[in-house]
Amino acid sequence: MTAHENLAPEAIVQRAELLRRLIERYNHSYYVLDSSEVPDGEYDLRLRELQELESRFPQLATPDSPTQRVGTAPAAAFAELRHGLPMLSLDNAFSEAEVRDFDRRIRERLAHMASLRYCVEPKLDGLAVNVTYLDGHYARAATRGDGEKGEDITANLKTIRSLPLRLRTDKPPRVLEVRGEVFMPIAGFRRFNEQATERGEKPFVNPRNAAAGSLRQLDPRISAARPLDLFAYGVGEVQGGSLPGRQGELLEELRRLGLRVCPLVRTVESIEGCLEYFRQIGQVRHQLAYQIDGVVYKVDDFGAQRELGFVSRAPRWAIAHKFPAEEALTKVRGVEFQVGRTGAMTPVARLDPVQVGGVTVSNATLHNIEELRRKDVRVGDTVVVRRAGDVIPEVVEVLREYRAVVAPPIELPMFCPVCGSAVERSGDQAVARCTGGRRCAAQRREEIKHFASRRALDIRGLGEKLVDRLVEADLVRTPADLFDLDLHALAKIERMGERSARKLLASIEAAKSTTLPRFLNALGIRDVGEATAAALAEHFGELGPLRGATPGEIQSVPDVGPIVAANVVGYFHDPENTVILERLLAHGIHWTRLTAARKHEGRLVGKVFVLTGALSRYTRESATAAIAARGAKVSTSVSKRTDYLVSGVDPGSKIEKAQALGVPILDEEAFEKLLAS
Ligand code: IVH
Repeated sequence: MTAHENLAPEAIVQRAELLRRLIERYNHSYYVLDSSEVPDGEYDLRLRELQELESRFPQLATPDSPTQRVGTAPAAAFAELRHGLPMLSLDNAFSEAEVRDFDRRIRERLAHMASLRYCVEPKLDGLAVNVTYLDGHYARAATRGDGEKGEDITANLKTIRSLPLRLRTDKPPRVLEVRGEVFMPIAGFRRFNEQATERGEKPFVNPRNAAAGSLRQLDPRISAARPLDLFAYGVGEVQGGSLPGRQGELLEELRRLGLRVCPLVRTVESIEGCLEYFRQIGQVRHQLAYQIDGVVYKVDDFGAQRELGFVSRAPRWAIAHKFPAEEALTKVRGVEFQVGRTGAMTPVARLDPVQVGGVTVSNATLHNIEELRRKDVRVGDTVVVRRAGDVIPEVVEVLREYRAVVAPPIELPMFCPVCGSAVERSGDQAVARCTGGRRCAAQRREEIKHFASRRALDIRGLGEKLVDRLVEADLVRTPADLFDLDLHALAKIERMGERSARKLLASIEAAKSTTLPRFLNALGIRDVGEATAAALAEHFGELGPLRGATPGEIQSVPDVGPIVAANVVGYFHDPENTVILERLLAHGIHWTRLTAARKHEGRLVGKVFVLTGALSRYTRESATAAIAARGAKVSTSVSKRTDYLVSGVDPGSKIEKAQALGVPILDEEAFEKLLAS
């Protein structure tokens, strides 16, 4: 017995149409605008109701019904589809000079035009697709192919939830070809690869390959399970309808029709604006949720575009300004093991120097012994190295076909290359460790670097090189020794003048006044980073209670599990650590007591923050830690209870919600000021 049993046929048809529209609207909010309109349960309920109706009355299941996104049977091969208008490609520019040449050529051809506006867009690193809507209904989709015709991926593309199956308008064009890029967001790519590895399958090398591999599945049910998304960036054939006369306005219109358009698209007044955009996007590109490999400049005015025309397969009116390549080929000269702060042994490949991501790279990490085995890197191998943003360069893969002489596989050493202590690898752990503790010079050195680092005690002027020299000269063996340094001792350091020595001593003195979260972070307890240190400080308020706490008490701190609790207890019960801690305190390291009374004085205590978009000086984690350290909370969605929305580049629809609710919106600068206040 169902709710529809007693409905008249017309009412059932109407109900199905209503449900389709409702579910499409929910899909649009959730997948295009990034804000969910209703709870998941409500969505599921409506979808199930529609599925049930359609299974009882199969004639109701129109091809553009939201129930039809998944589940068609696999095809034997991809059919060919001819594009209404050819799909062009873009010329590339790799330097500012090439971009200026592009602009000069255009201005010469359009000498009569007073101003030249450009639409500037990220160059998405995925696959170009052509999606055809007939009378506003999703009809078919094709890959770019040779530009004239591509492969029919109608069923596969339909599984992308952010792609509307019906355009949001009452007057759709008769024919509309939407051009856009299909990509796999980075988070989805990582998750997908983790799952693939767990299943014993080969992971994809990068999100672009993952997107390509997912689209080229003859079984659309496989595509459906992959986290694909699409940004529209243009149109092809348009019949029986009119669209705006400028690229920027066209993208606005596509957005209104329900398509997802990259929120970083802008229009600028001149080539200087283009170059400024290139710099801005370059700074935030690694914080975006998807991969881009450059930016695209397009003459905004379609009339001007027509006048400029094409040369072979690329328009004169657009160019892709590419970021420097982040991957390059080079040869492995050797593999060494570096010992970290906690003894972790990291295999590092020594390489023939090569330009990657705009800098010269001669070392690349192999992460751990498991990775080294999996990638099977050997001396003499040709490898792909990757350097993305501030991330440490890494070896991505070995090109086996280039392996001429077969060197033996690299083995994990039995003894630490620095101190000779035994190397230990417990159970199934990927990490192998030197068991030398502070007997190992490498571990001593890394412990002190961490202690002095910016997010720990922040000892200005005590950089990595200087720590190396202090440890080499055996002037400093533990963090406590830093506070015993004096002019006499520092005179032993080569090339250090009295002025620098005095400055260093002053910074060490200044660092004695700190905060409890910083101090706990500085101690370098295994698995206790900035966020956990802040949580521990918040919970215990003082060092004393934390030192005496049992594992059970420590585990009652949010997000602290048994392993971290055991590490904390282990640290404070270790006699050597106890001596160091006592010496540090005796040297006068101090912080303001976080008593209950004081805690409530902080302006931000109890406030609720929401983050959206990419910040340039914070990751999500570090912004969350900075907020938590001030007694405030981070929530994922904007509501009446939100006190501040912090908005970076490429914000989501949270901005509109915040505006609607009157929640104050802070840019990065205002956020930093508030944190500092
Ligand atoms: S416009 C005539 N805009 O880059 C203009 N392309 O090398 C044709 N791409 O095949 C393309 N982001 O796959 C355009 N914002 C963007 C783009 C973009 C990525 C890709 C697209 C195209 C390739 C051209």
